[in-house]
Amino acid sequence: MAEILIIDDEKAIRKTLTEILSFEGYKLDEASDGEEGLKKFREKTYDLVLCDIKMPKIDGLEFLQKAGEINPDIPIVMISGHGNIETAVEAVKKGAYDFISKPPDLNRLLITLRNAMERNSLVTETKTLKRKVSRVQEMIGGSAPIQKIKDTIDKVAPTDARILITGENGVGKELVARWVHEKSNRVTGPLVEVNCAAIPTELIESELFGHEKGSFTSAIKQRIGKFEQANGGTLFLDEIGDMSLSAQAKVLRALQEGKITRVGADKDISVDVRVIAATNKDLLQEVDAKNFRLDLYHRLSVILIHVPSLNERRDDIPVLVDQFLEDICADYGISKKSMDEDAIKLLQDYDWTGNIRELRNVVERLVILSAKTVSSEDVRSYVMPR
Ligand SMILES: Nc1ncnc2c1ncn2[C@@H]1O[C@H](COP(=O)(O)OP(=O)(O)OP(=O)(O)O)[C@@H](O)[C@H]1O
Ligand SMILES: [Mg+2]
Repeated sequence: MAEILIIDDEKAIRKTLTEILSFEGYKLDEASDGEEGLKKFREKTYDLVLCDIKMPKIDGLEFLQKAGEINPDIPIVMISGHGNIETAVEAVKKGAYDFISKPPDLNRLLITLRNAMERNSLVTETKTLKRKVSRVQEMIGGSAPIQKIKDTIDKVAPTDARILITGENGVGKELVARWVHEKSNRVTGPLVEVNCAAIPTELIESELFGHEKGSFTSAIKQRIGKFEQANGGTLFLDEIGDMSLSAQAKVLRALQEGKITRVGADKDISVDVRVIAATNKDLLQEVDAKNFRLDLYHRLSVILIHVPSLNERRDDIPVLVDQFLEDICADYGISKKSMDEDAIKLLQDYDWTGNIRELRNVVERLVILSAKTVSSEDVRSYVMPR
């Protein structure tokens, strides 16, 4: 049920509007001046606000401006008294959806409200579509480590330097790799991704370098490998710590010589590929344990980017939550839900073993299960049920 906030210092107007609109099936909330209205607006996500123009403390225009800073997606309809039609027009220029005059004309009121809310769902839909066509997810966070990573990306992306990205599960390693490609001179070329952990050892060589028809039993067709596919672009070797030693030797050769050989072929093929690798393992420890070649490690780690865990940058949690609320609500085609401060505090104190991926999943769960404003109660019952 759509919920409307009525802000007006005249009790009689609030009463009339509430009566009419609840009869039409809307849920209503009231505030008797702009200040109280703003407080309620901050705490809850309404579908629409009806706001008087002349009020004590914060007046209608000031409310409009502040509300727009808090959540620009909520339509605001001004209620204009006899003497202030001009101000109402000004309000519309400044972003109010429309205005209605006092005393409200029932039909016009209902039509205005319906149009405003319909337009708003269209706006949400458009935003979803826009996000779907944009290529890379924004990297959110203003904490010092994230800032440093962004600076590093800006510096190294335009070079062809190889990059090794390290960090726990779900911290955003792949996102870093995507941004390096996006900001590089290879952006018009392909970004090819290989998850080294997901490919059986005996197939990895043909996956990376391709094979000729008949080179082994199941090679019924010729196949182009990932190195060749990435020619002119970037090859992202994800989970490189899980690559077998024999495949490592071949990758090393490809990096040293800029050439590869398809399995079963006798001639070399030159490839122009920038390699970015990522791992959640400590590769030097793997070197000590003889699971990883030191020479390959050095080839890959010209630039090292370590992405810290979410527990090490809890300051970023509020902005991440806000962004995920926006993205997820847009994906579901609903207007943006909000989260109160206590709930955010609880999330900031939580132990994030799955890092940003886990945070996103948690926010999605809360969007599905909670009312329009996610509360600390919701967090306690849906995130920490122990
Ligand atoms: N700074 C960020 N801002 C917004 N979203 C982020 C950020 N970092 C990561 N994400 C999102 O979190 C999710 C996990 O990120 P990603 O897949 O890059 O992590 P990963 O380190 O590669 O994880 P894994 O080790 O499990 O492969 C993705 O949906 C990604 O878009
Ligand atoms: Mg990954």
